[in-house]
Amino acid sequence: MKIRLAISIAAITLAAPMLAVADEGADTYNVACVACHGSGIAGAPKLEAEAWKGRLEKGEETLIKHAIEGFQGETGFMPAKGGRVDMSDAAITAAVKYMIAEVSK
Ligand code: HEC
Repeated sequence: MKIRLAISIAAITLAAPMLAVADEGADTYNVACVACHGSGIAGAPKLEAEAWKGRLEKGEETLIKHAIEGFQGETGFMPAKGGRVDMSDAAITAAVKYMIAEVSK
């Protein structure tokens, strides 16, 4: 019994930081990115697999770089950090990872 309890506590402790990353990504997305990406304003790709097909091929690293530094593409202009330059690179990285996970479902 005691061993089983210890194992479940260890599992929860290990899983917690991963959940925190997922939450931070969703939080950042909902604060700083959803305005454009939620409805596809000004050529922003919506969170739908179809809109991200060609983009996912660029690789996660490039997508993160474009989100942090800004990116002029064929459909519109992605402002650096979605205009929220006060946000950390880590927060933007988490948001991009969240977006990639959402469109890869
Ligand atoms: C003012 C509107 C706007 C906001 C806010 C915004 N984006 Fe974008 N984003 C765009 C547009 C427009 C594009 C499409 C650019 C293109 O490919 O022509 C884009 C594209 C992207 C891409 C794909 C880049 C590529 O190389 O294909 C990523 C990743 C991205 N945004 C992440 C984010 C994240 C993360 C946030 C929030 C921190 C955010 N965006 C907020 C407008 C916005």
